[in-house]
Amino acid sequence: MVDTSKGIKKVVARAVEKARREIGGTPESPSKGRLKWPIQCTVGPGLEGAIACESQVGFVNGSQGSLVYRGYDVLDLSAHSTFEEVSYLLIHGRLPTKSQLEKFERKLVEFRHIPGTMRVLMGFPVEKMNAMAAIRLGTNMMRQECTQLDVMEARRDPDTAISADEDSIAMEVPPSGEEHAIYEFPKARGQKSARSEKAMAAAAGIESATRLIAGTATITAAVARIREGRMPLEPDPELSHAANYLYMISGKRPSPAEAKIMDLAMILHADHGMNASTFASLVVASTLSDMYMSISSGVAALNGPLHGGANERVIETLEEIGDPGNVKAWYRARKAEGRKIPGFGHRVYKRYDPRARILGPIANYLTGSSERAKRLLETAHELEQVVIGDLGEEKGIYPNVDFYSGLVYTCLGIPTYLFTPTFAVARVAGWTARVLEYMKNNRIFRPRAIYTGRLNRRYQPLDERPG
Ligand code: ACO
Repeated sequence: MVDTSKGIKKVVARAVEKARREIGGTPESPSKGRLKWPIQCTVGPGLEGAIACESQVGFVNGSQGSLVYRGYDVLDLSAHSTFEEVSYLLIHGRLPTKSQLEKFERKLVEFRHIPGTMRVLMGFPVEKMNAMAAIRLGTNMMRQECTQLDVMEARRDPDTAISADEDSIAMEVPPSGEEHAIYEFPKARGQKSARSEKAMAAAAGIESATRLIAGTATITAAVARIREGRMPLEPDPELSHAANYLYMISGKRPSPAEAKIMDLAMILHADHGMNASTFASLVVASTLSDMYMSISSGVAALNGPLHGGANERVIETLEEIGDPGNVKAWYRARKAEGRKIPGFGHRVYKRYDPRARILGPIANYLTGSSERAKRLLETAHELEQVVIGDLGEEKGIYPNVDFYSGLVYTCLGIPTYLFTPTFAVARVAGWTARVLEYMKNNRIFRPRAIYTGRLNRRYQPLDERPG
């Protein structure tokens, strides 16, 4: 691989130009201004068409095949931005100034260190666990280490705290030592003004979001190292978020080109509307649980093969097909069995996924590096032609982001079991941004199910039941 990121920039610029021609210019505007609730909408199975909330974080235009973060076209962000800047944009709602970005980057570097989480995580048999389960465990551990809300609520407040020696717990010896060694209980949470509670929660939320964005990468890389029978590595403060992630997995500093490609993949995976994992995060947050618990639910939802798990299946599928010459026969057999093709189709996109428009050419650029990757790519190209030819016009089935991401990750040396976790490392930016937004105007999620079961059944005691 050419050791420069200039080549990548050219590939992206060309892909963006082509995408613009095919998509047809700037994305269409969604509805503006505040909506009037309740909203009339038609709901299909799987909540298709249901409107869960208002959002200004991002917009997926499925009929046009475009994606926007906070008003910026993801194609532009891919061409010009970085994952750090995109994370700031998603969480804060605006692009940072130079000093804001530098401060945010410093925080991310600082928050890569999660020694408490790592200590506990390494006590588990991580090497035998599903990687996503280990990451979920890690984000839960981070809660114990980092929950700012807990820390701030438990912080000594002279007006509202009572020290242990005033409490009714019987003690043989009066407490002594440093002042802060005296255990203190907050007297009553209700005594704080609602305003300061809100400000505290907001600050704690942004802090937690930043910690999660940094920490999830550390956990994921550590899980990879442990699974390979190696010790986790200390983060490298000189490297960008994406470069450090690759470094912490492999122990090698990536080339500028590799670092830029990882950064691009992270930008493209950072947010994506009201998808299943984002919705799972919001549902948990809406109960006034906390950011860490919410994000760990997002990780759980992303794990499934219909969602983030699809990128692993794509590589398995391409390996199974084996050669471009086998594609047509394989596809006919698969279709006859009524089985879906991993990496194709989307609930919202009925056109080509804009993220695949960038990742496809990147995969092309990269695959010169190995024979295996070349064969996988040629097979992928053939499969794409065959599936689009059959289902594109008729059913709006095109490649989605997962179709090429696995190939890109393979070329970057990321093992297959780490594809979905790598997706989570990026998506945590979108999950946290949407949780922060939803919490500003929270209402607990509580949809209904239509009961189609029986009623008025008479209870039969165990010894009266037949058989
Ligand atoms: N291959 C073949 N046919 C497909 C595919 C596919 N990958 N996806 C959808 N279809 C067909 C279905 O068979 C169905 O046809 P029918 O109307 O004749 O019954 C029609 O398209 C609609 O399919 P649904 O399953 O109802 O679509 P839904 O919106 O529920 O699902 C999903 C979307 C889950 C992404 C689906 O397309 C799929 O399973 N794709 C494969 C897995 C995948 O790639 N997931 C990653 C999605 S992107 C992401 O989560 C990051």
